[in-house]
Amino acid sequence: MGHEAPLSGTEAALAATVLDSVAPVGAEARTEYEQSLRMRTDIEWALTERARVVSQTGDANSDYGFTLGYYGGGESFDENGSPVFEHSEQLLSEQIDTLLSSSEGRPAVYVDFGGGLGFSSIRLAAKYARDIAEGRLIMVVTNLGFPPAALDGGRPDIAQALSQTYPNGFSAENLEFVRQYQDLVTYLDANALELDTTTVFTHEQEPQAVPLKGNVGILHEQFALTHSHVPDMALAAFDDLMSPDGTMYLQTAYVRTDLGVSMHRSIVEEVEISGDMIDLNEPGYDQQRLSALDIGLEILDRRFERIRSPGHGILSVYRRRAAQGPVEREESYLAESLVTH
Ligand SMILES: C[S@@+](CC[C@H](N)C(=O)[O-])C[C@H]1O[C@@H](n2cnc3c(N)ncnc32)[C@H](O)[C@@H]1O
Repeated sequence: MGHEAPLSGTEAALAATVLDSVAPVGAEARTEYEQSLRMRTDIEWALTERARVVSQTGDANSDYGFTLGYYGGGESFDENGSPVFEHSEQLLSEQIDTLLSSSEGRPAVYVDFGGGLGFSSIRLAAKYARDIAEGRLIMVVTNLGFPPAALDGGRPDIAQALSQTYPNGFSAENLEFVRQYQDLVTYLDANALELDTTTVFTHEQEPQAVPLKGNVGILHEQFALTHSHVPDMALAAFDDLMSPDGTMYLQTAYVRTDLGVSMHRSIVEEVEISGDMIDLNEPGYDQQRLSALDIGLEILDRRFERIRSPGHGILSVYRRRAAQGPVEREESYLAESLVTH
């Protein structure tokens, strides 16, 4: 099966990073991996387009739950109606404080990749409302197919989306809170391959443009990378996005590395690529996605230090290494997983 559509400039650069990681395993594995990467890239785009069409037709839930994006604890507000931060929200809040205290005039950028409705991001934005309004902080939530293109001109109404998604489960108080602070968060409709070339803006009277590439100080991900068909390129893209003092919080990395399991699954069962129907749940294909995730995690391990402590909950935390290490791997699960499937 040939997948001949040319890769875009950004994709070609990400693919080169990934293929460099595979090279030590040998030419045959590299060729197979490259074919897999090109097919998975086609699939990622087909599913991205599908998510965008689906969101226009009003059925935004067809390939994954479009969830709250809440990373806190039980009591979400104190008696004065201010957010109480626990769990990942607390980690993220502490890291925003650190970034703001060391940003040297550059706007700090926070990204929640695949952040759903972004409830926690809105709660954090409320705490940092002044930093956002004065251009010291930009808070971004990405999704596929959300907000729908119809809303592109204006700001998405997250409170309305919440009340539709959770018709019985969201209190009037929470909705009012969201309505008050939702405009502080920038919502992007983007897959990981698009983020390298995305620019965001401060919320000042005269907005400053800030390219995401090289400027992201905090990147958080929960139950999102697991839906990607190009986790290898996505993680190479995350590396590109992070600023020298940036920190990543990756739930998919924790699940794979510490729990040793794969959470990949496709609710959309098949997709047509160049006239061929691809079964997205076929075990051989599943193995390719898993190898891609492992290669992406290896890329991160060479460039970042992975930190785990009990306080990190379900997240692996990545901080940049001072110097990048060389690729050192002679034998690999790749040789088995790719060449035999
Ligand atoms: C299960 S939700 C998780 C939302 C949120 N992080 C949470 O834990 O509540 C998965 C999110 O990932 C996004 N997503 C799914 N596939 C994606 C892909 N291939 N690239 C980027 N984002 C994706 C979807 O828009 C969706 O909001």
